[in-house]
Amino acid sequence: MIDKIKEHIAEVEAFNAETADQIEAFRIKYLGKKGILNGFFAEFKSVPNEQKKDFGQAVNALKQAAEAKVTSLKEVLESKQEEKGVYGDLSRPAEPIEIGARHPISIVKNQIIEIFSNVGFNVSEGPEIEDDWHNFTALNLPEYHPARDMQDTFFIQTDPDILLRTHTSSVQVRYMEENKPPIRTISPGRVFRNEAISARSHCIFHQVEGLYIDKDVSFADLKQTLLYFTKQLFGKSKIRLRPSYFPFTEPSAEVDIYWGLETETDYRITKGTGWLEIMGCGMVDPNVLRNCNIDPTEYSGFAFGMGIERIAMLLYQIGDIRMFYENDVRFLEQFKSSI
Ligand code: PHE
Repeated sequence: MIDKIKEHIAEVEAFNAETADQIEAFRIKYLGKKGILNGFFAEFKSVPNEQKKDFGQAVNALKQAAEAKVTSLKEVLESKQEEKGVYGDLSRPAEPIEIGARHPISIVKNQIIEIFSNVGFNVSEGPEIEDDWHNFTALNLPEYHPARDMQDTFFIQTDPDILLRTHTSSVQVRYMEENKPPIRTISPGRVFRNEAISARSHCIFHQVEGLYIDKDVSFADLKQTLLYFTKQLFGKSKIRLRPSYFPFTEPSAEVDIYWGLETETDYRITKGTGWLEIMGCGMVDPNVLRNCNIDPTEYSGFAFGMGIERIAMLLYQIGDIRMFYENDVRFLEQFKSSI
């Protein structure tokens, strides 16, 4: 009989349970009214007197073991439930982490900066609210100059001297005023023009303008720099410079790249010619250098300027400039894989 009780004790000690139901079933089996322990207690009467002591001790040991087991299993279960309450289900799969995307304007701007910084250009910035001197007059556009009409300007309230910059050439003026040649700088930034909003143009857009001033800088240097740039950015190695006019450069040119005529889109965007205009450029007018305290008999330089939206539209085949400003996540999400 005592051996049987010992077997039960071993069984109790080895028992394990994970749910409240399993623990309850175990409790009933040993400690319930009709349970194993009460069974042994009932047999107590029939145990011979000399064995009563050992028998009683063994039954008590079984009772204590069963009670201790029930208590400890309940504690383990409770602490597991508490953990769940604090941390949730610790075994659930991790949530997918959504990463953001850079705006395509930033992506292209950074690419342009990278390409020019590889050949020694630094980055300069200036204010978006400008004065007349930095946006116009210093750039060889005195008051009443007809070329001021080329850039429909937003003025700040009634003061005709304060305006929203129409190009980042204003930053170049500030840079020349503050730095001595040699100068190699590009000026990315937001610019403003009072233009009707359409698929092709917007009243707010972004530019990168470049300036290079040193002794003996020539038009050939300009062309070579632009060729390097178009090769790096577009992978196209054919450019042409068409004579043009800007008040701040002389001579001035417009830069076209040969885009090709391989697809229907190529035909459409190049109007069947294969050529695409991407920027304006020229040799800095001596008047501009003089206005910025640089001696034009000692130094010469070139400047160029391009619209970032236009370049991003070409690179990503975006058909409508307004997409850049709508912040539609379905549009922005498409740039996730870019840097
Ligand atoms: N500032 C000119 C524009 O906004 C671009 C340009 C820059 C042209 C430098 C020539 C030289 O249109």
